[in-house]
Amino acid sequence: MKLSVIGAGYVGLTTAACMAQIGHDVFCSDSDTEKLAKLKNGHVPFFEPNLEGVVRTSSNSHRLRFGSTEDAIAWADVIFICVGTPPLANGEADLSAIEVVARTIAKCASGYRLVIEKSTVPVQTAVQLRDHLAIHNKNGLRYNVASNPEFLREGCSVEDFLHPNRIVAGVDSPHSAEIMREIYRPVVEQTFDCPIHSDCCSGKRPTFLVTDTSTAELIKHASNSFLAMKISFINMVADLCEVVGADVTKVAEGIGLDARIGPAFLNPGIGFGGFCFPKDLQAFIRIADKSRCDFSLLKEVEKINQRRVEQIVEKVRKELWAIQGKKIAMWGLAFKPNTDDVRFAPSIAIAKVLLAEGAVVSAYDPQASETAKAALSEITYCANPYEAAAGVDAILVVTEWEEFRQIDWRRVLSLVAQPVVVDGRNLFSPSEVSEHGFRYVSVGRVDAFPSKSQASLLQRIAS
Ligand code: UDX
Repeated sequence: MKLSVIGAGYVGLTTAACMAQIGHDVFCSDSDTEKLAKLKNGHVPFFEPNLEGVVRTSSNSHRLRFGSTEDAIAWADVIFICVGTPPLANGEADLSAIEVVARTIAKCASGYRLVIEKSTVPVQTAVQLRDHLAIHNKNGLRYNVASNPEFLREGCSVEDFLHPNRIVAGVDSPHSAEIMREIYRPVVEQTFDCPIHSDCCSGKRPTFLVTDTSTAELIKHASNSFLAMKISFINMVADLCEVVGADVTKVAEGIGLDARIGPAFLNPGIGFGGFCFPKDLQAFIRIADKSRCDFSLLKEVEKINQRRVEQIVEKVRKELWAIQGKKIAMWGLAFKPNTDDVRFAPSIAIAKVLLAEGAVVSAYDPQASETAKAALSEITYCANPYEAAAGVDAILVVTEWEEFRQIDWRRVLSLVAQPVVVDGRNLFSPSEVSEHGFRYVSVGRVDAFPSKSQASLLQRIAS
């Protein structure tokens, strides 16, 4: 099938490359001509595991091409809209890029088009899209509109696209449903050459869920908000654990064993970031407010998350007594591992507070140093975690990169001015770090040097 994808960001480029990988002919466009030039040469302008390989293979086999939005719209009967919907100052999603694409479709296309929104948009955007196409329709365009929310995660976008647990097709007619089913048949039946390692393919077929367009849009909002709620919930449990001397890791394990709750998204820490959760949660709150639904539960989820930055800085402050004049190393800047994305990353807010209080900050991230520089110019970027740790009064673990697990603690101890580790992601076990001579503070767990009473209590429990 011939498909066009408008917008070559994380969602658009993954959609385009993976649709080509499963056998479709794809035309991908972007308004950024510099980005298009890179893509035409096989270069993905951001770090995303496996994506560049799929882009190159698909381009070489001529299943994937790049060009202008006008050409993309004229080329295919099916158009995926994957342009950005960044937050406005009031928290609502900015739909101006979608509006421009809708107008261009109405202007450039003739015959039939299925227009599919994949960008995360407020509920009822598909209805507005349909109205907009009608208003600007100049060439007797016949069209259907569908909503096909994307649930892929940065860092494993190719894997998530090719092996999803569900595909949601919000449609306005049986004909649209038929086309959507045809597009996704190879994914539903898992009949394509998987470009990743074979053990990522569980062989389990995803559910293909057909709904109306507004329901599909709400599924996306509700999914992201529910996951954000899970994180804020476990972060509050972590706070309580610190007060009563319980271990949040075990609490998470204990509740996660209940199949109704599940173990995922119960890692406490410095709060959720990235370009999706914070903005989608805010947008959902605005939608609820505008619909006169008192969804104050979500406002609380947001507040809990916003407090995490100050809470982790307070842990550093408590260890160092005062932050003014101290040297602090940040291990990790990306909002999560396996990405170079620092948009709405807690690291940026944490670094700004530390700098405002007079700290000297060094940082190391395996991928995100370059992207962080635009948002954070006042810190020293280092080539590895040891360079970042040289002469510091505290190390703050911000992103749980796998490579930090291999750290040589003896070497780190020989470099630091004070042996203090504040682990914002519970990446390490307290005993592992403290036995190398560090004071170790984490989230929702007893510190590595418990007081005498806590130590004897733990000893009594253990015996
Ligand atoms: C998210 C959704 O998971 C995905 O379905 C949607 O399409 C886009 O938004 P993403 O933003 O890539 O994906 O990251 P995700 O892995 O979900 O993590 C989001 C944030 O939550 C990160 O900052 C992460 O560190 C944090 N998080 C996640 C926790 O703090 N604890 C957890 O247990 C899980």
